[in-house]
Amino acid sequence: MEPMSGIAQSAYAKLYESWQEDPEAFWARAAQAIDWYQPPDHVFDAKAGAYGRWFEGATCNTCHNAVDRHVAMRGDQPALIYDSPMTGSKRAISYRELRDEVAALAAVLQDLGVGKGDRVIIYMPMIPEAVMAMLACARIGAIHSVVFGGFAAKELATRINDAHPKAILAASCGLEPGRIISYKPLLDGAIELATSKPEACLVFQRPEGEASLDKPWDHEWQAAVAGAKAAGRAADCVPVAATDPLYVLYTSGTTGKPKGVVRDNGGHMVALAWTMENHYGIKPGEVFWAASDVGWVVGHSYIVYAPLLHGCTSIIYEGKPVGTPDAGAFWRVIAEHGVVSLFTAPTAFRAIKKEDPQAKLLADYDLSHFRTLFLAGERADPDTVQWAERILGVPVIDHWWQTETGWPIVGNPVGIGMLPVKHGSPSVPMPGYDVRVLDEDGKEVGPNEMGAVVIRLPLPPGALPTLWHAPERFHESYLAAYPGYYSSSDAGFKDEDGYIFIMGRTDDIINVAGHRLSTGGMEEVLAGHPAVAECAVIGVKDALKGEVPCGFVVLKSGIIEPVETIEKELVGLVREKIGPVAAFKLAVTVPRLPKTRSGKILRATMKKIADRDEWTPPATIDDPAILDEIGEALKNKGVI
Ligand code: COA
Ligand code: AMP
Repeated sequence: MEPMSGIAQSAYAKLYESWQEDPEAFWARAAQAIDWYQPPDHVFDAKAGAYGRWFEGATCNTCHNAVDRHVAMRGDQPALIYDSPMTGSKRAISYRELRDEVAALAAVLQDLGVGKGDRVIIYMPMIPEAVMAMLACARIGAIHSVVFGGFAAKELATRINDAHPKAILAASCGLEPGRIISYKPLLDGAIELATSKPEACLVFQRPEGEASLDKPWDHEWQAAVAGAKAAGRAADCVPVAATDPLYVLYTSGTTGKPKGVVRDNGGHMVALAWTMENHYGIKPGEVFWAASDVGWVVGHSYIVYAPLLHGCTSIIYEGKPVGTPDAGAFWRVIAEHGVVSLFTAPTAFRAIKKEDPQAKLLADYDLSHFRTLFLAGERADPDTVQWAERILGVPVIDHWWQTETGWPIVGNPVGIGMLPVKHGSPSVPMPGYDVRVLDEDGKEVGPNEMGAVVIRLPLPPGALPTLWHAPERFHESYLAAYPGYYSSSDAGFKDEDGYIFIMGRTDDIINVAGHRLSTGGMEEVLAGHPAVAECAVIGVKDALKGEVPCGFVVLKSGIIEPVETIEKELVGLVREKIGPVAAFKLAVTVPRLPKTRSGKILRATMKKIADRDEWTPPATIDDPAILDEIGEALKNKGVI
């Protein structure tokens, strides 16, 4: 490893300084990678929006930049490669084909009455049509809101009520190993629960599980698109303002009500195109694979928009890292499709390591063209990073970001010149982000001291300008705690070389297998059970998923049902109301919850007990004996 003093002279340091000296000139240069109808003559308006706005006055279209403009140069190059071990099918879709499919689908949306600024919810699994749906919305200036295909009807209903979509695009089913998830009953259930009703639902029929289209607002996707094509219909790209929303992506907040993260068109394209070249070190025409899901921000940014904006081929993988059929699945996809970089969550590598610790299955595949592994979504534990480095023999790059930012805040810029890796750290702030660590009073702490990780305002292009129809919540959630800064709700520290270490959330969000979930949301579900008097959900350490939720419940007096029955019902309830991805399998009945004298539940101490970390009863505790009861209950469940 080269000495850390080398960082000061690095290409990264020079680039970061150039951004610091003149952010507007920096982003104006980056904006040249994008085709504009009305080019930005005004890069940043400090007076607009909550903290300023990027590229106001410019007009553009994201679908044109991601698809149409590449047809002349790379019309026959695959834009998407769908690889589904779940169905045994593979399909390459060229840029030309993608344009034609998207233009026809966009015409269908127009026929359904969808226009500029209308919201469209997309509830689909990992199939190419999900990407086409997003791009078709972008094409006509509609705002898409993708809801993860594994979410329950109630979660979908919450999002319908917030976004008021004119139409919903769905597939008839999703596929999980060993079972078919019928989406239509979930969709119908959500529409029934929601107070806001869409005018139309367009359903893509999958042969693995067709849906009955029995509602007056149902339409069959394939028939509608075939009809549009037969009639020679193809929607043009509609110019939108750079500051118009491209999408709203709901992410867990501190309550059961998710936050609608707004992403605009112009800044998003500029930032993502910049990252492909500079952070990920990818050239146009290369094959990039983000093994995530279009329902998450990683899917939005690095399955769909960034690779396509950059003229790459993007892999759409419908499968798991293990079990579809084995722990060599990732190596097969990399070898077969010529993937140069893979981006996934550390949990996927923990799963592969668990199944095939010696990585014996690697021997079956030629990975000589594979250059870099990128990890994000949760803390990358050094063990997993080192294992991946050893078996793959390529750089393993941890990077830190959030749904809110849409692209890496802290990373290791492979394209500019990779800096030495420090295990446990996602490395250094990217241009655009002035990352600080503050104490509770908002004062900057010294090197290696833990504190709240914040970003000095303004946020760069691509980061959220606000929350959907909730500017006050935006202010309260992100800007109010440390005036002048965006609060990330992550805790961590900066070392003497400026490397950032992210250690965990300061709020009630947990990361389960790279999925961001609110324990507050789960508490709302548990509290809804008639036998539950009070409850607290915490995340406990898990060797595979990083964290899994554990719910402590106190039952109402006079309940005669057996405790085991109630606990089973609670597990079922979270699965039904939030979804199986919450991986809620641990409901623990306790006589009382530990609280401070002022009544605050001591979740942090409960977590330490469950994680077998060292703990001492806080001085403010009402009755320390309750903590022993918690330990006892966890022992009885085999958690500790
Ligand atoms: N629809 C319906 N159910 C889904 C689903 C979907 N789209 N996705 C997952 N589920 C279900 C699973 O079938 C599982 O159900 P079960 O409780 O009946 O077994 C449950 O939700 C938990 O799923 P998952 O988190 O995938 O765990 P797993 O134990 O099946 O697999 C891993 C573990 C590590 C292989 C898996 O979590 C993984 O691939 N993680 C990578 C995560 C990732 O890509 N995150 C995106 C951020 S970058
Ligand atoms: P999401 O919005 O789903 O991308 O989740 C964002 C959260 O995931 C962050 O606030 C962190 O808590 C966590 N996270 C993401 N990437 C990393 C990383 N590289 N290291 C540590 N935590 C991470």
